[in-house]
Amino acid sequence: MLRLFGALVLLGLALACITSWVLDSYDTAWHPKRSVRPPSVSGSEAPTPPYPNGELSNIFWFIQVSDIHISRFLDPRRTPDFEKFCTDTVNAIKPALVLATGDLTDAKTENNVGSDQHEVEWQAYHGVLKRSRVMERTKWIDIRGNHDAFNIFSLDSINNYYRKYSANQKMGSFHYIHQTPFGNYSFVCVDATLTPGPKRPFNFFGILNQTRMNLLDTFRAESQRSNQSIWFGHYTTSTIVSPSPGVRHLMSSAVAYLCGHLHTLGGMMPVLHSRHPHGTLELELGDWMDNRRYRVLAFDHDLLSFSDLRFERWPAVLITNPKDAQYLHPGLEPLGRMRKSTHIRCAKVKKTLRPPQQITHAQKTGV
Ligand SMILES: *[C@@H]1O[C@H](CO)[C@@H](O)[C@H](O)[C@H]1NC(C)=O
Ligand SMILES: *[C@@H]1O[C@H](CO)[C@@H](O)[C@H](O)[C@H]1NC(C)=O
Ligand SMILES: *[C@@H]1O[C@H](CO)[C@@H](O)[C@H](O)[C@H]1NC(C)=O
Ligand SMILES: [Zn+2]
Repeated sequence: MLRLFGALVLLGLALACITSWVLDSYDTAWHPKRSVRPPSVSGSEAPTPPYPNGELSNIFWFIQVSDIHISRFLDPRRTPDFEKFCTDTVNAIKPALVLATGDLTDAKTENNVGSDQHEVEWQAYHGVLKRSRVMERTKWIDIRGNHDAFNIFSLDSINNYYRKYSANQKMGSFHYIHQTPFGNYSFVCVDATLTPGPKRPFNFFGILNQTRMNLLDTFRAESQRSNQSIWFGHYTTSTIVSPSPGVRHLMSSAVAYLCGHLHTLGGMMPVLHSRHPHGTLELELGDWMDNRRYRVLAFDHDLLSFSDLRFERWPAVLITNPKDAQYLHPGLEPLGRMRKSTHIRCAKVKKTLRPPQQITHAQKTGV
């Protein structure tokens, strides 16, 4: 009994340490002293055109959804709601791309303690993509999370269903460039899932070894040619183990890193947004699984804006100019353009009657 109590105390202490370490840096303010990159590269220099005006130009938007956890045992609404998201929500918002940042399936045993890959969960995920035909309407980029790698002995294993049933089917990190007439935008995927994939709970942390770091470094170099870069992955950087100088250093030329994995820490932390020492924003997104979260992001004249939303709460609103002061990146964003802009720019999707309407407002600024 005493021994059990001792073990519980130790476990509690360990959890408290992990939590405080994980949460330590959840602060998004721009600290000029902490930020190594001089905030002058584009921010405080004389602004250069194009400037935001009343036209729907130099803008594209995209969606992130994370930790879907399609399950054969739990929450029968999860999969049909997700299908509705792929049809109605995606139809209404019309994103250029969608990032599904891991834990596509739940892969747990019926007692909710052990782990196992279930082909039926993957078939359900695949069925949603097929029936909704979402891949014909947007670029669907789905990556693996730790649950998608549980109990997988090697990438060639027959139970590596990701390879068969996902849209992307790519293991490992990759670099996708979204090309538009007004610029190129880099999306770099960080795959830190373990191979071979151990059982639950042994893959709460991800690993990037030197080989994987070198590959990411080539993507970093390639992405310098793009107007802006977004990095994304399943794990938060606090749960990735990587050799020096570390994964945060590699992604310091990205305006933001998008991830999931921690959900909302059991409701304790509904918002997990932070900023790295070099200025990159780390934006964890709450889960689809229990909270039906998703995020809409936009690059408007190379300024990043985003809004964390809930499924079926309308209207969905995103103000893209001027952007939220809390999330400015003076080192990488051409912030002077906001001063030169003539209009407040805001995208609003009001879901009322079918077919869904898309309303995009540009309002003249009073200042
Ligand atoms: C993207 O970069 C190109 C090349 O530097 C530049 O001409 C273009 O104006 C940029 N696009 C935007 C929206 O700023
Ligand atoms: C985007 O990249 C392509 C291929 O590298 C290049 O040809 C094009 O000029 C780039 N577009 C802009 C606007 O920089
Ligand atoms: C790094 O990990 C990858 C995939 O897990 C593996 O193929 C590679 O051999 C590893 N490299 C080193 C240097 O350990
Ligand atoms: Zn998850």
